[in-house]
Amino acid sequence: MVNEKKMIWTKKDLLGLEYLSKEEIEHILYTAASFKEVTTRQIKKVPALRGKTVVNLFYEPSTRTRISFELAAKRLSADVINVAVESSSVRKGETLIDTGRNIEALKIDIIVVRHDCSGAPNILARSVKASVVNAGDGWHEHPTQALLDIFTLKSKLGRIEDLSVSIIGDIAHSRVARSNIWGLTKLGAKVTVCAPKTLIPEGIEKMGVKVTNDLDEAIREADAINVLRMQLERDTSGAFPTKIDFFKQYGISEERLKACKKGIVVMHPGPINRGVEMSSGVADGQNSVILEQVTNGIAVRMAVLYLVAHAKR
Ligand code: CP
Repeated sequence: MVNEKKMIWTKKDLLGLEYLSKEEIEHILYTAASFKEVTTRQIKKVPALRGKTVVNLFYEPSTRTRISFELAAKRLSADVINVAVESSSVRKGETLIDTGRNIEALKIDIIVVRHDCSGAPNILARSVKASVVNAGDGWHEHPTQALLDIFTLKSKLGRIEDLSVSIIGDIAHSRVARSNIWGLTKLGAKVTVCAPKTLIPEGIEKMGVKVTNDLDEAIREADAINVLRMQLERDTSGAFPTKIDFFKQYGISEERLKACKKGIVVMHPGPINRGVEMSSGVADGQNSVILEQVTNGIAVRMAVLYLVAHAKR
């Protein structure tokens, strides 16, 4: 048993769950649990990041992640700046590294970055002394999403080890899937990925997951399912005939859920395409923890911001 309290955090950045050990992931979850308590108080604020400044630098749209990082930073008493990339000097051709260095020259402590290019946060982290937190990069990783998924699952089912978790849908374009696979397998869960062949990336089984194209097989014995958003903006046009066809074969309906374990936990990172990945009845039903995931995102992001800001370098 790891004594999580005694872990000395050494990573200045959070770039992906691939780069964290099991103990480091557990330490983030442990830290998040104590911040979750803060978020339930009447005054939901602690001085842990007083005097620090966090910049949210989002090159892609976001509702949940951006608001959640802003709230997390404010709950820790940090100053927060949201950069609207569309109205920044990025539009004049400034590179990511130059933007990062200029932000750093303004004495920023943490840069939270979302980018459409896989690896952009890694490049930024090598170029600045400030901490860099990946808020989703291309098809690569979305580490805080996976951490909040895992945190929610652990809160619901009491453990991660030996749980059967099926990740369903657009695996090919999904940074959420990759981060969940890294995190869940490191913590000892049995992970299955399920999608049409056209949405399964080659070699995914090397990540330690079972692969199936049969949805009924994927959900039959699952303790939890994480249903991914169909990334219609990333050209999925050739992957399946129509959205209706996709729902018939791979959508989670109330009917399908009846064949699952009674207490199956239904997750979705959002935003949901209702009637494509799942029915509204499932999204809003009693097995769904989708809004709890969003709530837990604040505590998880508080933990991440706190740890990277206090990393022993
Ligand atoms: N889950 C997620 O990343 O949602 P947003 O794109 O709204 O941040």
